[in-house]
Amino acid sequence: MITKDRAKEIISRFNDANILVVGDLILDKYLWGDVERISPEAPVPVVDVKKETVNLGGACNVAWNIAALKGNVYIAGVVGKDENGRILEFLLKEKNINPILIKDSSRPTTEKTRILAVSQQLMRIDRENRRKISKDILEDLIDNIDGVIESVDVVIVSDYGKGVITKELMDYLREIGKPIFVDPKPSNVELYHKVTIMTPNKKEAYELAKLDRDNSIERVGKFLMEKLQMEQLLITLGAEGMALFVEDNIIKIPAKAKKVYDVTGAGDTVISVLALAKAVGGTWEESASLANYAAGYVVGEIGTAVVSQEKLIELVP
Ligand SMILES: Nc1ncnc2c1ncn2[C@@H]1O[C@H](COP(=O)(O)OP(=O)(O)OP(=O)(O)O)[C@@H](O)[C@H]1O
Ligand SMILES: [Mg+2]
Repeated sequence: MITKDRAKEIISRFNDANILVVGDLILDKYLWGDVERISPEAPVPVVDVKKETVNLGGACNVAWNIAALKGNVYIAGVVGKDENGRILEFLLKEKNINPILIKDSSRPTTEKTRILAVSQQLMRIDRENRRKISKDILEDLIDNIDGVIESVDVVIVSDYGKGVITKELMDYLREIGKPIFVDPKPSNVELYHKVTIMTPNKKEAYELAKLDRDNSIERVGKFLMEKLQMEQLLITLGAEGMALFVEDNIIKIPAKAKKVYDVTGAGDTVISVLALAKAVGGTWEESASLANYAAGYVVGEIGTAVVSQEKLIELVP
């Protein structure tokens, strides 16, 4: 799939790649605590919080993966006029990600809080507004993207369905003419026609195609490409790796068997590495293969992990 020498050559050029990530920005919060009793008020555990941590989520995690691999990265999206928006901006800058944050006073910064005790998640609390962004916010976003787009090699659309990715925004991005890589939200399928490549997981691929499980993944992929007029498609298959659809061929890229600690974020790693490798001249097969190695590594790490250039080179046999 890819030789070690070729992997080294491509990965060492990641420093020259310029990627713009557009999408739904999420602040991940974690409350870590102990449970020692049941509440006297209701039959629920009482969590004694010992530690609170925050992390980059959603499209921000894609940008973080790119920055960790030394790619140059802009992230464009919408936050609220709130404390979480400021925290997100701080975290992005700290990780060398250039933020283009449009502040919308009519919505909160999307926040997902997990409550963890005795090493398991007890609950998740979401604060968000999934309404489509307004015309004014969209215009502001487009104006700001316009200012940096010239230098960009690849645009990644990271759609978590929180309202930033709209028909108007996709029309604008298509007009620019740069390659567009999409991590899709199946309910937004009609927005993605004529993009360069899409990276759904298996479940999402079936949903996007609106086909049932009697159809093979090959058929689903071909159908989707025709329906959306796409030249390439990468379906991720979890522990089975990925299926790359390119030039009438279907290339199966197997995953290396792995003890999995945390699958969250594997999809973000896939699209990040795919875009970086493609931006610096990798073929589709080489780029997907590197993405597969990178994702296989992050699922074996505890918590949302990212991979470095050195580590990624090491992963290629
Ligand atoms: N058990 C596993 N062993 C090895 N590699 C894995 C495993 N699970 C996932 N991967 C790697 O991660 C990639 C993406 O996994 P998956 O298809 O589950 O994506 P996803 O559901 O979009 O993930 P996410 O939860 O981040 O959205 C796979 O193509 C593979 O490279
Ligand atoms: Mg995913």
